Amino acid sequence: MKSTKLNEVSWSDFSELTPIDKAEYLSTDNKIFHMLLAQQFNRKQLDEFGELATRIRKIAKTKEGILFLRSQLAHKRAMLYFTQPSTRTFLSFTAACQILGFQIGEVRNKSTSSEFKGETQEDSIRSFSSYFDIIIMRSEIGGLAERMAWALSNSERPIPIINAGSGKDQHPTQALLDIYTLQRSFEKSGGIDGKHIVFVGDLARGRTVRSLSMLLTNYQDIKITFVAPNQLQATPDILELLACKNVSYDLSNNLRSIIPQADAIYMTRIQDEWDTTSGESAKIDTSNFCIGTKELALMKSTAVIMHPLPRRNEISTDVDSDPRAVYWRQMRNGMWIRAALIASIFNCDKDIKNY
Ligand code: NCD
Repeated sequence: MKSTKLNEVSWSDFSELTPIDKAEYLSTDNKIFHMLLAQQFNRKQLDEFGELATRIRKIAKTKEGILFLRSQLAHKRAMLYFTQPSTRTFLSFTAACQILGFQIGEVRNKSTSSEFKGETQEDSIRSFSSYFDIIIMRSEIGGLAERMAWALSNSERPIPIINAGSGKDQHPTQALLDIYTLQRSFEKSGGIDGKHIVFVGDLARGRTVRSLSMLLTNYQDIKITFVAPNQLQATPDILELLACKNVSYDLSNNLRSIIPQADAIYMTRIQDEWDTTSGESAKIDTSNFCIGTKELALMKSTAVIMHPLPRRNEISTDVDSDPRAVYWRQMRNGMWIRAALIASIFNCDKDIKNY
């Protein structure tokens, strides 16, 4: 596996680049090596990853297929470095690595690693790279995965890094699985182009909405409505990006009036872990930003409800059995698309396609 040219640029020069310009340093021969930013994906890659995920999903239906997939990367080891809480992202990456045959190591808590003794993240990552062939990391520090990718690219073992969620800024592989879910949901109705996507909840602090909004700019005639209480509304950086890419968007605080027009409703929870003063989120009235059976009745029969999960009370459990509630499938899609991404990073996508 060839590394990138990230070792040809200083950290200070790299960190000043726009995400689009950074992307060039994170790939080799047009193939993603470090997966750090949603802006790295183009339409062609989104289509190809979706096809590869579906191929893996179908191959995994037989024992013979499962053993074939497992033989692909059985000689490799993956490190999961998750110092911020996670259920689905951690487990779906674990399962994706297992599907491809990897052996797995993990650090999930700074208090049980040498970071507790004051070791820098650079030194920690460098230690992981001595034993493993890829690092999948989640951190509450925005941009940390980028800094780590740069540090590794300038070390003697430049292995790939996948950003599994960084601070409030990015969650590119969640956006990828969200796109895969939209592709599958609209497979028989013309695909994602032309659809109206409605984001609901804490849009100011949710990284999944930020990353998915960026990926949606790869599609034609998309319309986005951001529905949130004023204090939690989508931030100018995202809105400017959409305007710049000519994506039509609206802001609203009236969920019920928007529901009938939506093709996909993407719900999110209140991200109160980012509160700067205690109890600040609890003071915001979010009762009109929830979906229950009454809201279901207003939805198109073809629309879907998504959620990156975990949920609090923004989707009532009464909604779970409705065929339009796709969040459980969305979660499983994460395993297939993450397996596709890792297979592609390690160049076994061709063999899988030809199986
Ligand atoms: C999201 C996250 O971590 O950003 N969860 C996930 O990865 N599925 C959303 C959230 O925590 O609200």
